[in-house]
Amino acid sequence: MNKRKKLNSKFSLLTLVGIILFCSCNKKEDAFINRKISFNSGWSFHLNDSLVDKDTISPATKWRTLDVPHDWSIEEKFDEKSPAGYGGGSLNGGLGWYKKTFKVAAEDTTKITSITFDGVYRNSEVWVNGHYLGKRPNGYIGFQYEISPYLNYGDKNNEIIVKVDNSKQPNSRWYSGSGIFRNVWIETTDKLHVENWGTYITTPKVTAENAKVNIETRIQNDHSESKKIKILTTIYKEDTKVTSTTQYITLTPKSGTLLNVEAEVKSPILWSIENPELYTAVTELLVDDKIIDEYKTTFGIRDFKFDLNKGFILNGKQVKIKGVCMHHDLGPLGAAINTRAIERQLEILKEMGVNGIRTSHNPPAPELLDLCDKMGFIVMDEAFDMWKQTKTKYDYGNDWDKWHRQDLADQLRRDRNHPSIFMWSIGNEIPEQWNETGIEIAKELAAIVRLIDKTRPLTAGMNPPVNMNIDEVTLQFEKKNVSINPLAGSGVLDLIGYNYAHQTFEHHLKNFPNTPFIATETTSGLQTRGYYDAVSDTIKKWPVRWDLKFTEGNPDNTVSAYDQVQTPWGSTHEATWKIIKKHDFLAGMYVWTGFDYIGEPTPYEWPSVSSYFGIVDLAGFPKDVYYMYQSEWTDKTVLHIFPHWNWKAGQTVDVWAYYNKADEVELFLNGKSVGKRSKKGDGLHVMWRIPFEAGTLKAVSRKNGKTVSEKEIKTAGNPSQLKLMADRSTIKADKNDLSFVTVDILDANGTLAPNANNEINFSLKGNGKIVGVCSGDPVSHEPYKGTKHTALAGKCLVIVQAGDKSGRLELTAKANGLKQSTIVITTE
Ligand code: GAL
Repeated sequence: MNKRKKLNSKFSLLTLVGIILFCSCNKKEDAFINRKISFNSGWSFHLNDSLVDKDTISPATKWRTLDVPHDWSIEEKFDEKSPAGYGGGSLNGGLGWYKKTFKVAAEDTTKITSITFDGVYRNSEVWVNGHYLGKRPNGYIGFQYEISPYLNYGDKNNEIIVKVDNSKQPNSRWYSGSGIFRNVWIETTDKLHVENWGTYITTPKVTAENAKVNIETRIQNDHSESKKIKILTTIYKEDTKVTSTTQYITLTPKSGTLLNVEAEVKSPILWSIENPELYTAVTELLVDDKIIDEYKTTFGIRDFKFDLNKGFILNGKQVKIKGVCMHHDLGPLGAAINTRAIERQLEILKEMGVNGIRTSHNPPAPELLDLCDKMGFIVMDEAFDMWKQTKTKYDYGNDWDKWHRQDLADQLRRDRNHPSIFMWSIGNEIPEQWNETGIEIAKELAAIVRLIDKTRPLTAGMNPPVNMNIDEVTLQFEKKNVSINPLAGSGVLDLIGYNYAHQTFEHHLKNFPNTPFIATETTSGLQTRGYYDAVSDTIKKWPVRWDLKFTEGNPDNTVSAYDQVQTPWGSTHEATWKIIKKHDFLAGMYVWTGFDYIGEPTPYEWPSVSSYFGIVDLAGFPKDVYYMYQSEWTDKTVLHIFPHWNWKAGQTVDVWAYYNKADEVELFLNGKSVGKRSKKGDGLHVMWRIPFEAGTLKAVSRKNGKTVSEKEIKTAGNPSQLKLMADRSTIKADKNDLSFVTVDILDANGTLAPNANNEINFSLKGNGKIVGVCSGDPVSHEPYKGTKHTALAGKCLVIVQAGDKSGRLELTAKANGLKQSTIVITTE
């Protein structure tokens, strides 16, 4: 099946001094057809709140050239008075314009040309050559417009204009980003073609011997004559042909049809978390033996159910969902998607033992789902953070009536072939969960979901499904005079989705005897990486209400990184996991959150601008609790001790250890034992409270007296040198690929200086650029898009992006009084 390999090389995309020509020229008769080409490069951008109308764009309007995906808000300065509010990360929205000039090959006149946006935040409106194509208020949904009727073909230019209106703020509880922040594609097909998102592949019966694969295909004939069509659908495993089906139909002019066919895959290789095996179905439409259109669908073969008593069963095996919630931003890169940046996040999470992602609280970038398919994650694909009732003044609730049906249907059609998706969530903490309107809306949404995909259960994150006797929560139940959340009790949902309320998990079967459990959102622990109040149980408290000042917290808005601070509705990381792990019927959980994200800081006040919830900070550096999960969720041998070992002489310090595969840990301070500890009961860490003495702290974990692992931390001297470490030192010269480079501040002996917060300056030589800097500090107001940044707890991140030429990039980090560091990144 070597022909398939040609797929990606076939189209020529010519760039002529700022003009893009996309064409389907030079097609070989037998070649496979690549319908989609990237339309990301060579856009012009203009940001101006006062330029509200397309017709007021004048020759004097100043434009900046850039490639999308692009997020203009990440380029803004943090602003205490930003209309986006603290929730929005104190970064402004605004009104932006994008335009691009392009040519279309003359021979495409007979074709259908469409433009696809994977997501534009928000209120996008699009014109091609002055023709208005439409508006999409929802910033997270992908959409497509056919543009062929308005195009000039051959030598004449075309112009596309996109207006993006994110000026009305606030419209989000977290940082949204602004602009064409996902990929853009041009799709060219014959008038006879498989429709966009036009296939639906399910595997209704899966055994070790064979799998039934059901393939639905929507075909459209826009020719003015009838077409006799042969539909050849071939299933491949990598490059090996597995099976194929053939159908024949005749389509009358300007008509479409939905075809259904069943194929059989013998000895199927199942998709699982450990081995996320994928298949590809290639649908070819042939007329007179000539391939007219080709459409590829990636899918997986797996069998699953949520069982009331046994939880989540995948391919006959019980699997605990160890998931995290993720917002869509990529830290210092903002909301502009980059596949490598998403992949890195997933790699870091996988390393910790995460096997599930909840796309809170909206449709994700398609690339995230592709990666989850390939890497093996159990995805909860979520649609909405609000229905009709708004949560912020200008949010999507205002667009609900007109758009929710289409947005949900589009999300389902776009996403339903992804084997990694196992649940649809129709909403997060929807205010209407408490009233009859909510039940009606839920029924309507459920009907849409079940029409488009019957293979996955439906849930919603409810806060909480059942009364848990916490003041504000109880009030909701009392107001309604109910003990069960009306939405949870409505019978509309297939899974009862718990947001928090871990105290009620063990009573699930009593409260909901017929509906399986999923913890849609848990924990909400709060931590600043590398910062500790030395005695862990005298930590500063989180205020009881969002709208209260952080008066009981640290005045510098740091939150100690021992796992002891949480929101009142949440729990420590350990507390929720202990319950989930105990009972089979508790299918699993999605912790709030895997990574810190921009916005929704807690303390919810200036100067904090990004969240503290992450198990991993905004830069991608793990906080200590990462290793608690790793010790529980993976087979790796874990022994992690913290905090750092730089304190005042005699100061009392709590030393914690997370470990596994051992029955005790002994701690030594400067060679002297300070005691052995073993986890008691369901405990997940051990602790020593000892007076500080400079030197070396060493932990040894043992099983049956035999050493399993050893860990040492040392008191660092003064910061003396910088050390750069790239996650990948060879990257692709494709203008997209990234190298994430960690900068450590070390003392003269190479020990991390844990309190160092030097300002670091970066410079790069070669064909590439610095696209982000970040320390993970939630109170930092330094721009993520700069070339200098202040370290947090001895660490900083700099992100280098390749240009389009292969060669050598030389990155140097300098800081006053410290020895500089240089590394080379190769681009090829
Ligand atoms: C939840 C909500 C999340 C986030 C979190 C913070 O109630 O669903 O979006 O706000 O609280 O704890």
